[in-house]
Amino acid sequence: MDRELVIVLDFGGQYNQLVARRVRECNVYCEIYSYKTDIEKIKAMNPKGIILTGGPNSCYEADSPTYAKELFEMGIPVLGLCYGAQLMMHILGGKVERADVREYGKTEVFVDKTSPLFGDVSEKTICWMSHFDYISKIAPGFRITAHTADCPTAAAECQEKGLYAIQFHPEVLHTPEGTKMLYNFVRNVCGCAGDWKMDAFVENSIKAIREKVGDGKVLCALSGGVDSSVAAVMLSKAIGNQLTCVFVDHGLLRKNEGDEVEAVFGPDGPYDLNFIRVNAQERFYSKLAGVEEPERKRKIIGEEFIRVFEEEAKKIGAVDFLVQGTIYPDVVESGLGGESAVIKSHHNVGGLPDYVDFKEIIEPLRDLFKDEVRKAGLEMGIPEYLVFRQPFPGPGLGIRIIGEVNAEKVRIVQDADAIYREEIAKAGLDRGIGQYFAALTNMRSVGVMGDERTYDYAVALRAVNTIDFMTAEAAELPFEVLQTVMSRIINEVRGVNRVFYDLTSKPPGTIEFE
Ligand code: XMP
Repeated sequence: MDRELVIVLDFGGQYNQLVARRVRECNVYCEIYSYKTDIEKIKAMNPKGIILTGGPNSCYEADSPTYAKELFEMGIPVLGLCYGAQLMMHILGGKVERADVREYGKTEVFVDKTSPLFGDVSEKTICWMSHFDYISKIAPGFRITAHTADCPTAAAECQEKGLYAIQFHPEVLHTPEGTKMLYNFVRNVCGCAGDWKMDAFVENSIKAIREKVGDGKVLCALSGGVDSSVAAVMLSKAIGNQLTCVFVDHGLLRKNEGDEVEAVFGPDGPYDLNFIRVNAQERFYSKLAGVEEPERKRKIIGEEFIRVFEEEAKKIGAVDFLVQGTIYPDVVESGLGGESAVIKSHHNVGGLPDYVDFKEIIEPLRDLFKDEVRKAGLEMGIPEYLVFRQPFPGPGLGIRIIGEVNAEKVRIVQDADAIYREEIAKAGLDRGIGQYFAALTNMRSVGVMGDERTYDYAVALRAVNTIDFMTAEAAELPFEVLQTVMSRIINEVRGVNRVFYDLTSKPPGTIEFE
């Protein structure tokens, strides 16, 4: 697609994806590439601007990540952030040294409003600093445009050459005016018109899919999650009933979820996508009987899912294309994009076998971040409750029931979870928390209800705040909400007599229980 592009060159910083997301919020398309990317490749992509990210190294050390000086001589505006700023100075003849103390956290910064980056920013504003090294001497031709009490060069620039360096992190929310600074760079300095809009993206993608598919047959595994739902609807809009969607109900979904998915995507819903629901509950429960070990449970669920899907695919016959709900962070994290290490590969219902009889894969959401997938979903009229759904793991409740899975335990965790979600929504907290759910511990304990002794299960409630799902902290839910949930669960869910709230962060815990 012919569109304006800004390139984020990744030097191993933890915020690389955040930089790209912020740029896209300014309606400018951008992609992340490793600092090892050849300069000729960068030139060939014809970017309107380049942003160098932070990173954990010291630029003056011999084997630290660096880049060819030519990058700054191509006439393309460059913005260096943190390590990127230091590297720019280092390469262009300035000096970077280790400071006596690390500057870390929210810091007051004084900016020069005559800088194109700071024109509409308050003269005294807050920024997020995280650095040991500092720019002790700027490169020739540059001028200092921001400072803090401890950092003489919080920003510097050489306007004629379009080179800008910022020591702090404008991309994080702790820098409240940071998005303005990035906007000023991509829109004003680089001159991007801001043509990255979801309505245009949806329209162009639909056209491109139509061309690619022709009159071929397409198969999509629909889980009811955000990514596969948005992908399916996009395909349906592009090719109508050449698409078949298979939804496997493995009996490990949230309460009523199977019916909800069917109501939207089934024959009575607004979409034309040959929806096939496979009720495979019994099959999964019988495979899982007696199995307690978490990894084995995951494996069994994953494999059985594939078997069911394959059987359905065979019934449909030769398909030309298979749809996958890959999104941009998957591309970056799998090492194809930026510099960050491959972190982990989850089993996902999207991760289908390559031995299904199909010719090619379609990944309509491959360029999008999660928030953009949601915007695309809204753009196509998918109901909000589906679009803003929280992530739900492929193995479903199977990994929220500690120990053996059976229909009775599924019922308990479904009922408890439904109450929890209902109360969180009632309290208006549903959009504010990264992920929250109930899980069933394998612990039974003694209680008393009425005058009767009980010996029942304990339910654990989990709610975490997270940006990237790689780290997370327990959310501070109001005590009254937790109390209401606790008493409703104990009163309404047969088989439960105790409720815990999980305070564990990730690491050392994980978000899910298994
Ligand atoms: P953990 O438990 O690893 O979870 O801290 C991090 C995020 O990933 C989700 N998750 C999965 N998603 N297939 C998925 O599609 C899986 O097997 C899987 N396991 C965990 C989890 O819900 C959380 O959002």
